[in-house]
Amino acid sequence: MTIDPATLFEPLRIGGMTVPNRIALAPMTREFAPDGVPGDDVVEYYRRRAAGGTGLIITEGMAVNATGAHDGPIPLLFQPETQLALARIATAVTGEGACIVPQLWHVGLQDSPTTVNPDTVKQRPPRVGPSGIYGNGKPGGSPMTDAQIADTIADFARCAAGAMSAGCDGIEIHGAHGYLPDQFMWSRTNRRKDRYGGDVAQRSRFLAEIVAACRAATSPDFAIIARISQWKSVDYDARLADSADDWAAMLAPLCDAGVDAFHCSTRRFWEPAFPDGGPTLAALTRRLSGRPVIAVGSVTLERDFKQGTSETGGGIAESAARSAHVAQIVEAMEAGEFDMIAVGRAMIANADWANIVREGRADNLRPFAREMLATLA
Ligand SMILES: Cc1cc2nc3c(=O)[nH]c(=O)nc-3n(C[C@H](O)[C@H](O)[C@H](O)COP(=O)(O)O)c2cc1C
Repeated sequence: MTIDPATLFEPLRIGGMTVPNRIALAPMTREFAPDGVPGDDVVEYYRRRAAGGTGLIITEGMAVNATGAHDGPIPLLFQPETQLALARIATAVTGEGACIVPQLWHVGLQDSPTTVNPDTVKQRPPRVGPSGIYGNGKPGGSPMTDAQIADTIADFARCAAGAMSAGCDGIEIHGAHGYLPDQFMWSRTNRRKDRYGGDVAQRSRFLAEIVAACRAATSPDFAIIARISQWKSVDYDARLADSADDWAAMLAPLCDAGVDAFHCSTRRFWEPAFPDGGPTLAALTRRLSGRPVIAVGSVTLERDFKQGTSETGGGIAESAARSAHVAQIVEAMEAGEFDMIAVGRAMIANADWANIVREGRADNLRPFAREMLATLA
């Protein structure tokens, strides 16, 4: 049965940003930014995806400060020269009619001492996190002081203001996958006894304060998206919340702080949020928050992005294409389960994923192969 994909091509309002359609490029770290500055090749990589019909470009994670920078040549957004590079990316993307939000990233105590490169460790400031506990439950790094928390929140806000000056339509705050804001939200890594620790609502205070600071540093129409997840790179079965009520308690401070949309990161977009077989995390979040929601995970692919790879965070799974997902996505969107779909690996393999789908040619989508990560094609 062929399905009319027209629903995917209706505009969507997120805060003050109007995205021309319901398709986003998922944020993907590409490590092609020598000295933290994306060059012409990165500008072209994003422009091609915008020209391929994508409505919203969510960039790879960009570090908000040196303490929170992932090892490797990722964009260091706190540098003025990186903000100039972001302006060039934004000009290229918006010139093709798409919207753009950079992803703001702080890794916190994500890297465990066994997985980091000792050479780069020597060159960067010591890692910090809520309680000096890694995602694997082992001690390490240092617990953040109140002053460090305040400075980090200010760094997010400064980068948000920088993104606005660079001509972006908004930002996405990386609050997922076990990175710093998620470390605050997760009971395994947050053992604080102060106002940043405690029950689920108190544990989301740190992310809520980041949202509020970014809101205050930007204009009211500048879109603020929060990416959140249950799963962590160090533990795919981890949960921030064990029930819909807990999830609601966690979302409430974020909504009060001014989040315009949620990006619910799951590895398979169709799976129920809880083992009881109820709604997906995206559908649940949309219902509880009343905000637009972006869903993600294995879109038009047979395998999820960690399937068959090591539990300690290594490796990205390759996958055959699966066109039948298009009908599933359209149906879920029409049923009000989510408002936008983010496409990751399938959009590395197909820069014109959106145009291919709009033309009803999803059977022609290319599979995703790991070698594709070696270039910015
Ligand atoms: C190479 C690669 C890099 C990624 N980097 C990021 C990142 O910087 N920030 C983030 O939130 N997610 C990151 N992810 C996760 C993706 O945004 C997405 O959630 C995941 O790939 C699942 O979508 P897919 O099955 O369509 O690929 C990355 C994924 C891949 C494949």
